[in-house]
Amino acid sequence: MPSFSSIHGSWSHRWVFILAVTGSSVGLGNIWKFPYMAGENGGGTFLLIYIICVCLIGLPLMMAEVIIGRHGRLSPVNSLKAAAFVSNKNPRWRYLGAMGMFTGFLIFSFYSVVAAWILHYLLALLTGRIADVGVDQATRYFGELLLNTEILLVGHTFFVCLVVWVLSFGVRRGLDRAIRYMMPILIMLLIMLVVYATSTGYMPHAISFLFHFDWYYVTAEVLLVAMGHAFFTLSLGMGTVMAYGAYLSEKESIGRSVIMIGALDTLIAILVGLAIFPIVFAYQMAPASGPSLLFVTLPVVFAQMPGGQVIGFMFFLMVALTAWSSAISLMEPITAWMIEKFRVKRYQAAVLMGFAAWVLGVATLYSFGALSHWTVFSLNLFDLLNFVTTNILLPIGGMLLAIFSGWFMSESVAKKELNLPSNGAFEIWQGCIRFIVPISIGVIFVMNLYNVTL
Ligand code: PHE
Ligand code: NA
Repeated sequence: MPSFSSIHGSWSHRWVFILAVTGSSVGLGNIWKFPYMAGENGGGTFLLIYIICVCLIGLPLMMAEVIIGRHGRLSPVNSLKAAAFVSNKNPRWRYLGAMGMFTGFLIFSFYSVVAAWILHYLLALLTGRIADVGVDQATRYFGELLLNTEILLVGHTFFVCLVVWVLSFGVRRGLDRAIRYMMPILIMLLIMLVVYATSTGYMPHAISFLFHFDWYYVTAEVLLVAMGHAFFTLSLGMGTVMAYGAYLSEKESIGRSVIMIGALDTLIAILVGLAIFPIVFAYQMAPASGPSLLFVTLPVVFAQMPGGQVIGFMFFLMVALTAWSSAISLMEPITAWMIEKFRVKRYQAAVLMGFAAWVLGVATLYSFGALSHWTVFSLNLFDLLNFVTTNILLPIGGMLLAIFSGWFMSESVAKKELNLPSNGAFEIWQGCIRFIVPISIGVIFVMNLYNVTL
């Protein structure tokens, strides 16, 4: 059988694919977003619903994205078109890829702003500016940073440049080596933080908050945000995994890779939770303090912890690196598409898209200051982009993708690409993709529209 590789190149080894998708999935979603979402939505209840969503919706969808990407070997738009073509279906399914690219672009624009916060904290720890803060000072410090648009503008610009730089070389070069070292260091640092958090004596509170399920919290909204978070944290519903799957060689087992990635992503989120919530309870902070949670708890930790300045610096460095690898993956689908569509060079596509994302990012950055009066449903631009992409656009993308791969794409494509050990395993995947994924996403949407309470 002839072996076609993508025009964008291919991964040197299956491990590189796993590392790249891990690099995409582990990011601000786990470290910044997970703790505050759990804090706002009932802790253990949120965690359990989110894990169910990862298993029943996330993993089958991740497999579907890899199938389509590896089969088409192009950007998501053209891989979808190719999968529709061999199945004698409407080529308009490619617009699903276009919607995903757009979603990635929107996510990028607030992701980069959060990365700018991280970069600032990195420097503040290095220079000792937040060396001995307490809770009140840390809270004030973050509030002032949000309004300090000049500094954030520098961070945002720097971050966009870093992303464009890697995109210009192609995501395959260098990324795997970096991620291979980053993940073990990140996990090690997290374990150190968890150990320190235990010394506050509030670990039992954190555990009962994070692992205690209560029906009281199961509302339509919690279902929606837990499901949305499963999409966001696994980089699903917008074509990232499809784009990376396009560079995966034919022989590799998709199922095993996907389970490993999902488990690692969840493990890291839980470790972050175990590091942060003891501090929250020890200092009587509110678990539901929103996007600032990470930024007001951690400085306090690093101020008190022996060697905290060094550990804090290393920690924010790892967070910045994981944010970097995730941001690259947000822009890869649109970059690959521009190369195919307009036959431009990779660096040209990367610079152009980077610039466009930078502009929207600047508007997002000002949404805490000069543009704070731009609100929709009382959400500023930052919160609006964060909410709409995570909880609406990604799940809709995922639902349509499941409908396409379950009902329209020919079964033989999925069978061949998945290459599962047994027919039963294939049927489980197909059952999830055909029924469980679209129906549960649909039901959760409808419940939210009509504000159904359980
Ligand atoms: N999964 C990334 C995170 O958890 C964010 C992301 C979403 C990256 C969608 C790519 C695509 O931070
Ligand atoms: Na993640």
